[in-house]
Amino acid sequence: MNRIAYVNGQYTAHHAAAVHVEDRGYQFSDGVYEVIPVVAGKQIDSVGHMERLARSLSELRIPAPMSERAMNLVINEVIRRNRVRNGYVYLQVTRGVAPRDHAFPTDPDSALVIYARPKSSAARKSNAETGVAVITVPDQRWARRDIKTVSLLPNCLAKQAAKEAGAYEAFMYDREGMITEGSSTNAWIVDQEGRLITRPASNDILNGVTRLALMALVEEAGLEIVERPFSVEELRSAREVFLTSSSGMATPVVKVDDRVIGNGRPGSVTCGIMERFESYVSGDETEIAAGRISA
Ligand SMILES: Cc1ncc(COP(=O)(O)O)c(C=O)c1O
Repeated sequence: MNRIAYVNGQYTAHHAAAVHVEDRGYQFSDGVYEVIPVVAGKQIDSVGHMERLARSLSELRIPAPMSERAMNLVINEVIRRNRVRNGYVYLQVTRGVAPRDHAFPTDPDSALVIYARPKSSAARKSNAETGVAVITVPDQRWARRDIKTVSLLPNCLAKQAAKEAGAYEAFMYDREGMITEGSSTNAWIVDQEGRLITRPASNDILNGVTRLALMALVEEAGLEIVERPFSVEELRSAREVFLTSSSGMATPVVKVDDRVIGNGRPGSVTCGIMERFESYVSGDETEIAAGRISA
């Protein structure tokens, strides 16, 4: 099948899709992105993702390339043309093309790229059954981690360190030894009382749409969530640990560095959350995270 990407107003063959050498995303990582899961042909939490995109653009003063409504039409068209039933949409907006100069161009013309890829759920399901290992590494990122920028080099270094250690993810910790988040996931622990603990949304972390969806699901289930930073030590001695992201939903963590969590199997609270997620994404409601990204 010929895959199609949307690049600045045109649907083009994926293999030929390209951006300009002076695109500011390429030269300065002056751009933002979103990854939206597609399950059974439907976008999951598209409103939450669009809200976060609008926030990222506004924080960086990048003009929106088109209205949200128009963008959603393009996204659905890209999903349709690529016949993606299960997978994800990748969407990137940069401050566009301009002669290289650190300061913003006076009349920026934002560049928009959207493509979609199928992705099997096999790896996610196997991780859900066995749980995954994480390592902990120092957080080397800038001070605005709440903005979903394409500037992901420290995240790549952290993920590579995890891969080389045979782990699935790297949880990063700040100068005070408190966990911020994973390289592409949010971090959660379950304490001895069964409460879910996660770092509050601030400039220190990316406010995950999955994190917000989970909060909505868990509120419905009556589980208690405490938003507070937790330390590397608390992480290692937690009753349960899990991580969230659009591609992995909720994934149990059974090992942190060299410490086994619980009995080395996914814990009961995490399993309950994963079940709720599965029924959410396979049900009719798809916008449970809407309205939860704060300005
Ligand atoms: C640094 C970081 N934290 C958290 C997340 C999880 O966000 P979401 O649930 O919206 O996928 C991501 C996703 O890419 C991320 O890059």
